[in-house]
Amino acid sequence: EQINKGKYEHYMQKEIHEQPESLTTTMRGRLIRGGSCKAKTVLLGGLKDHLKTIRRSRRIVFIGCGTSYNAALAARPILEELSGIPVTMEIASDLLDRQGPIYREDTAVLVSQSGETADTLNALEYALENGALCVGITNTVGSAIARKTHCGVHINAGAEIGVASTKAYTSQIVVMAMLALAIGGDLISSQERREAVIDGLFDLPSKLKEVLKLDQEMKDLAKLLIAEQSLLVFGRGYNYATALEGALKVKEVALMHSEGILAGEMKHGPLALVDETLPIFVIATRDACFSKQQSVIQQLHARKGRLIVMCTKGDAASVCVGGSCRVIEVPQAEDCLQPVINIVPLQLLAYHLTVLRGHNVDQPRNLAKSVTTQ
Ligand code: G6P
Repeated sequence: EQINKGKYEHYMQKEIHEQPESLTTTMRGRLIRGGSCKAKTVLLGGLKDHLKTIRRSRRIVFIGCGTSYNAALAARPILEELSGIPVTMEIASDLLDRQGPIYREDTAVLVSQSGETADTLNALEYALENGALCVGITNTVGSAIARKTHCGVHINAGAEIGVASTKAYTSQIVVMAMLALAIGGDLISSQERREAVIDGLFDLPSKLKEVLKLDQEMKDLAKLLIAEQSLLVFGRGYNYATALEGALKVKEVALMHSEGILAGEMKHGPLALVDETLPIFVIATRDACFSKQQSVIQQLHARKGRLIVMCTKGDAASVCVGGSCRVIEVPQAEDCLQPVINIVPLQLLAYHLTVLRGHNVDQPRNLAKSVTTQ
């Protein structure tokens, strides 16, 4: 695999823009959509001998750090929905700090781009000692996590060089959505939904191409925000993870304080921060939580919040009622896959903010691509 920046100035920029291709590679040979009488299905070769055990588990525990944790959080709702199994989330270091309970009846899913992160690796050893079935989701064939887990899925996103993870994030979400489909198996009750998710996965690369056209718009927004001290990102439901991951991107590369906030928690603290000066990015794309997000926007308007709202194409008028705000319109995907689309404008914003602020895009100060020490 040839690794160079091609026509791009930075690896992060290249990796953001190559997501339509990296997602295609992630899905290649794994999704099957035959003729009219053929079922739509998913094949994850690395799991085939363990699917029965996974389906029988009492709990699925996602374990990861940083962006990999956020990707798992984005996939959690669809995994819960299609598997019917409780899914819990663990930041690897926190699980180890608490020595939290892991049981033989658990399936532990270790998510790591590099497959070498020390905390995730130690959490894997801990889960193995406790008898859980361990599944690895990594981007690195032959990595420690890929080798030591019982089974797994490679995300096949191609080498990622920028320290801030971008294309690995979207590929991880897609792999975990495929994992949800595989565990959901052939349950008749969810067949329609499974087929809609499979169709939605097929549609993602073209929607990714479309959302990448927002590049200039996000650059213009970055110019407006260049001197800000802080940016809040509000999300909920499928896009709570998008809020955390968007804020993480801005923080780690643009070196600007940024916080992802679960919109449902707004009244329990964050609302105190709202004034005419602090920029607030609200994710309000169409899904079951849409009307709740509309009401959040109204409450932020009522406190004169400085809003930037991400909404589904054509929804500008429905999200910006009762105040002024800047609107970013994105293409609509299947609800559980919308995080794959929604993170892209935030990746672009973080990228442009970093360049405009004159910071190192591919190697932010104090950070490493792979944290192999505790
Ligand atoms: C470091 C990187 C992040 C990454 C995290 C987890 O902090 O800078 O980009 O998300 O490690 O890495 P992993 O390789 O386990 O996904």
